[in-house]
Amino acid sequence: MNKDCKKETQSTIDFIIFGATGDLAHKKLFPSLFNLYKDFKFKEKIKILALGRSPQSSEEFVKRFDDTIAQSTQRDDFYKIIEYFPCDFTNIDELKKLKDKLDAACASRIFYLAIPPLIYPDVISNLESVGLNKTCDTHSTFSRVILEKPFGEDLESSKKLNKIILSGFQENQIYRIDHYLGKEPVQNIFSFRFANNTFENIWDCKYVDNIQIRILEDMGIEGRGEFYDSTGALVDVFQNHALQMLSILTMDKPKEFEENYIREEKNTLLKSLVFKDCIKGQYEGYTSEDKVSPDSKRETYVAVKLEIANERWDKVPIFIETGKYLNERRTEISVVMKKNKDKLFKGNSNNNVLKFLIYPDLGIELKLLGKVPTFSNYEVTDIDMKYKYSNFFGELKSEYEKLLIDCIQGEQINFTRSDEIENAWVLVDSIQKEIKDKTPIIYPKSSKGPKETIALLKKDTLYWV
Ligand code: BG6
Repeated sequence: MNKDCKKETQSTIDFIIFGATGDLAHKKLFPSLFNLYKDFKFKEKIKILALGRSPQSSEEFVKRFDDTIAQSTQRDDFYKIIEYFPCDFTNIDELKKLKDKLDAACASRIFYLAIPPLIYPDVISNLESVGLNKTCDTHSTFSRVILEKPFGEDLESSKKLNKIILSGFQENQIYRIDHYLGKEPVQNIFSFRFANNTFENIWDCKYVDNIQIRILEDMGIEGRGEFYDSTGALVDVFQNHALQMLSILTMDKPKEFEENYIREEKNTLLKSLVFKDCIKGQYEGYTSEDKVSPDSKRETYVAVKLEIANERWDKVPIFIETGKYLNERRTEISVVMKKNKDKLFKGNSNNNVLKFLIYPDLGIELKLLGKVPTFSNYEVTDIDMKYKYSNFFGELKSEYEKLLIDCIQGEQINFTRSDEIENAWVLVDSIQKEIKDKTPIIYPKSSKGPKETIALLKKDTLYWV
């Protein structure tokens, strides 16, 4: 990789936000930039250029953050580094004006595309054709681009998008965001596995019975009818968040803890995923949501069974479940170990389960069997050992803060490479082919989802963890 791009820059950075008047910028980006500004004293280093179509002054623009950023003198100072720049970024002439402005400062640049993914191809092509993929001084400054998911809507469109972006930007300039990769408990899977020997030695089909990943949500589509009805659970959450977590959990050890080795191993893993079965669900009342087609077959829930076609994970069932309007909000990964065949003790004989807790608890839990403290014969029951972040560390940084800092510092471990995206789509396309035209199973709001999921688990004699 180009090491120049990795050095923490001493130059100033123009942080250019496309779609600065949108929801993402309002709720996530600006509050995260403000926190970074406070923590890292960005004052002299970062200038934020907020791009939107409507004409307004910078003073008017920043007022919109009064509800997401608490009032303080620091906020007033932060507002001073924000400049609003009216610009229709689908128009080449307007982008040329942006280029002139940026060239005059000759700083490093980070373009954050907080815009609908549908217009990525046009905006990226325009950036490239006016030369904004380069800086005016390529030796001491850099130009990077951050994109939000979904990256394409299937394999074909993601390939096209990758082609467009890679024709002007190098891979080490592209930061594809999956905010799950900015979550501390997800990042900790690397260290849990590769800094300790205890579990890595039993991380295979000899010892692991099955793996279950759940991203369960108790809220609905929250006014995003138009987006969701053309997306669905498989593309919105499974293709990215779930598969990224699975790849980190099951990939082989990278040669070094360096982005390209890690991405290589994740990619190899993604390529070996095999689709086995899927339950498609839709919550009751979904088709009456605003901007949702009344006869929509879109899934708001999926339970997918996979396998990994390699020696390490031979025949280990992988079960991934995600959905909206379920009875709880919980994200966790369970690695269910094989049962101890010796039956020396009375009482339970449940599997040991290692859980990575991502939400609402953050930490790791190990479910074991332990002796019941009685006078009677030895008898065992379920016990658990729990590591909670809050017992060891203070407040954690938000995913966006961490990912933004990574990008500023040129660190790409927590971003996805083009081939990873494409290989995730290969799998998702094969699932889509199976379920696209299927009528979804309707489940009541605030329930556990379709009852059929239990049958899917039982097929492999898996139990709900
Ligand atoms: C987003 C999806 O990527 O992830 C949302 O678009 C989903 O539909 C969200 O609610 C879940 O993220 P988190 O961090 O709240 O679990």
